[in-house]
Amino acid sequence: MKPEMPSPMIHFHKRAPRVIYLDNAATSRPKPPEVPAAMARFLEEVGANPGRSGHRLSIEAARVVYRAREAVAELLGVADPLRVIFCANATYALNLALRGLVRPGRHVVTTGMEHNSVMRPLRALEAAGTGLTVVDCSAQGVLDPAAVERALRPETIMIVMTHASNVVGTLMPVKEVAEIARAHGLLLLVDAAQSAGALPMDFESSGADLLAFTGHKALYGPTGTGGLLIGRRVDLAGFEPLTRGGTGSDSDAELQPEFLPDKFESGTMNAVGLAGLEAGVRWLREQGVEEIRSREHRLTARLLEGLSEIRGVGVKGTGDASKQLPVVSFTIAGLDPGEIGLRLDNEFGIAARVGLHCSPATHQTLGTFPTGAVRLSLGAFNSASEVDHTLRAVQELARDADNGACRT
Ligand code: ALA
Repeated sequence: MKPEMPSPMIHFHKRAPRVIYLDNAATSRPKPPEVPAAMARFLEEVGANPGRSGHRLSIEAARVVYRAREAVAELLGVADPLRVIFCANATYALNLALRGLVRPGRHVVTTGMEHNSVMRPLRALEAAGTGLTVVDCSAQGVLDPAAVERALRPETIMIVMTHASNVVGTLMPVKEVAEIARAHGLLLLVDAAQSAGALPMDFESSGADLLAFTGHKALYGPTGTGGLLIGRRVDLAGFEPLTRGGTGSDSDAELQPEFLPDKFESGTMNAVGLAGLEAGVRWLREQGVEEIRSREHRLTARLLEGLSEIRGVGVKGTGDASKQLPVVSFTIAGLDPGEIGLRLDNEFGIAARVGLHCSPATHQTLGTFPTGAVRLSLGAFNSASEVDHTLRAVQELARDADNGACRT
């Protein structure tokens, strides 16, 4: 094993329980200290409803929400911050785009690497009369863009795909698919739940028309924050909101406003969460997305290399750190993933996520359905010594499984 890399220039929370947290694909942990501080500041010093009243605290709350909108727009490369629609999470954003734009009789193309936040709304639309084609990926989770083009029909309206798999981190060919979407006049909806903040991103030049993001993963904000980026090719008049209600604007009208972002943001906003999200995004910019990406890349390569050397361990995906985010899934021959997860937690203090990761389609593609796999996902706060500890733990579990197999 190579010598350890220098530890990151990041401070840990003093009160955080000592656990090796490798479940950053579920939600990043810990958050930078600036995030809870901004949320506490909002609750203690502002605490009013944004955009609903004319008093100074309400105006300040609206400023907090707008600053979060600006911070996200700047980080993700959106020219107009009003095209950042805030909602509770990426799942809501994906439902908003799919249910708001896709009608019965039309056709949608997706991939065999999608999370249920894409598959479930698509299956419901299919049951209501929308055509659906799921394009197969290789057993390593690689998508051939030409297969997407072959799946198009005259009634196809949209291609929807993940930017990076939540199971094996595979980076999908969004740019190539965007060219296909443009050439055929289709909308491209990208699920960037795992990738927003994890990679440098420029929405305006990405070719995506709609992009769903979450605040609580690689943007280092709190849960309950996320959103949808809406590009200029999207026909807003034909885009139905999922919810209608109070927006603080046009209060004399009983019809939903048509302008952005109010058309899609009914009800009191999660201002305290957005205060935290702004702090997370600012922290990320200070650290540098590229800087964190390159550290995570090195740690992922170390993890992949170490796992591939352990007898009985099967690493899923491409096994190439440069083609994926820091999300690694594996199995151990003769051991149930659920048991591996329990033992990692109980005996080694390692937090992993096991099973199907809300992505049965992906596990079918990878050949790990229905038992699933063990997922280790890294974040900005992980270190090489944590990776090495984890490798030793997996080695021990694999050795036990191997001994058990020899005895039978
Ligand atoms: N989608 C998240 C995960 O993969 C929650 O764990």
